[in-house]
Amino acid sequence: MTEQLIRALGYVGFTSARLEDWRSFGTNILGLQDVSDFETADEELRLRMDERSWRLAVEAGAQEGLAYLGWETSSPSALAALVDHLTARGVELTEESQDLADHRGVAQMYSALDPDGNRVEFYWGPRAEPLPFQSPTGTEFVAGALGIGHIVLRTVEFDACNEFYRDGLGLGLSDYLIAPPRLINFLHVNERHHSLALIQGDPAAPSVSHLMVEPTEIDMVGRALDRLYAEGGTPLIGLGRHINDEMISCYLESPSGFRLEYGAGGLLIDPSKHVATRYTGDKVWGHRKN
Ligand SMILES: [Fe+2]
Repeated sequence: MTEQLIRALGYVGFTSARLEDWRSFGTNILGLQDVSDFETADEELRLRMDERSWRLAVEAGAQEGLAYLGWETSSPSALAALVDHLTARGVELTEESQDLADHRGVAQMYSALDPDGNRVEFYWGPRAEPLPFQSPTGTEFVAGALGIGHIVLRTVEFDACNEFYRDGLGLGLSDYLIAPPRLINFLHVNERHHSLALIQGDPAAPSVSHLMVEPTEIDMVGRALDRLYAEGGTPLIGLGRHINDEMISCYLESPSGFRLEYGAGGLLIDPSKHVATRYTGDKVWGHRKN
């Protein structure tokens, strides 16, 4: 694929039995805006972080984990070209109903399963809102064209997942980390250093390792930690700086159990000039496990 058809990881959905805990965590700690429809608040939590109508959804469900990843294309023709490309590679795609597209706030969408069975959605035409994003904590996020942040998945079918996301969806390799028994590939789709990372060799696979969202200022990260401490909480992993995306972050425990990375200062790359690098460690300093 010569043209980059996917432009961003636009949205992420989880399922959880702990919607009220997610609402409190998402708004009071992370600083996201609750835009859930009042009548459906028991069934789905919707959180907003920028001009888009929503970025993070949590649906009611017995299992704690990933419901879907939403990959954004730039136009109807880009989505059609992506569908043709994936179909030619033998990926089974479903064109979703207009009802579901309306619910996601997109013009048109398809879905498929990745080799580990994770639901992935492809769309064009996301809805933006006329009213500005209003954080309950005064937090602003690096999102927009760069998407929601990044997600890291523990994989069973590591090679097949790499083929699916790199050759199928067109994500580029930013770098990789060798941390025996694990191998982690960091993949980009725009200037954000990575939108997706795939882990090989983790016994907890398949599962979500973490979702990262990125406030615009390190002070906003510090204030979130202050709010967490005020509630009697502690980060799972304290502040530290990653070696590859240079982000200063901490890791919080989400209500679903997986980690939520909250950090600032993530590296932006020029995908046309970027050289994939190999690392054997993941931090410059910090990131002490509590
Ligand atoms: Fe991360």
